[in-house]
Amino acid sequence: MELFDMHVAIIMDGNGRWATTRGMQRLIGHARGAERVRSIVEAAVDNGLGHLTLFAFSTENWKRSEAEVKGLMALFKRFIRAEKANLFTKGVKVRFIGSRDGLDTALLDLMDGLVAQTQDCARLVLTIAINYGGRDEITRAIGRIAKKVETGALSSDDITEKLVTDHLDTRDLPEPDLVIRTSGEYRVSNFLPWQSVYSEYLFEQTTWPDFTPELFASILTEYKNRDRRYGAVLQK
Ligand code: FPP
Repeated sequence: MELFDMHVAIIMDGNGRWATTRGMQRLIGHARGAERVRSIVEAAVDNGLGHLTLFAFSTENWKRSEAEVKGLMALFKRFIRAEKANLFTKGVKVRFIGSRDGLDTALLDLMDGLVAQTQDCARLVLTIAINYGGRDEITRAIGRIAKKVETGALSSDDITEKLVTDHLDTRDLPEPDLVIRTSGEYRVSNFLPWQSVYSEYLFEQTTWPDFTPELFASILTEYKNRDRRYGAVLQK
């Protein structure tokens, strides 16, 4: 598979531990994590990757301390303001998945502005999951389908896997080929459960702030070659 056809999704874990093991506040770890987002997105563009999806904030993350949630929301805003021009110049088309409920209007406006400004970019599709949970996404999809059944636009006989897929936040995206989780946790944590049933998983020990573009590039090369060998075996 060529990297342009590939979709890599990343659970960016370990910002907190990166900071606390260095005697710093957790928010400093998140700030380092945001810098890492910038360098990994650039690496994705440089390596010719087609789709990159990043898990930035889960529906469960609201349970963190008020200060941490506020800090993360401020960081998302700062990131969008600071990176908008750069993302556009690099040809990165940005989209968001997750529920808009609970996000403040200033953040929603920035998100909408970034999506609008980059809508015609075509080098990399960057999907950022904010206030995202797979079960929440599936539940919202079921709600949308039920409404259509209620109004008679659909019948219950029309409900197929494709119909469900077409009502998810990710309806315009291919399924992820590879899901990476950093920081040595072996969990999926409600990230793309419907979409990743056939994905490969890679669990990296490195924390997200230490996940370098070089490491990312070597994972992409490894995966691409592994996939090609597999293709060759199939053709025998
Ligand atoms: C998990 O680390 C990380 C998060 C909950 C937030 C992810 C956010 C970023 C990488 C920063 C900014 C992102 C964007 C898109 C600008 P953790 O806090 O759970 O780490 P821990 O498990 O060590 O506590």
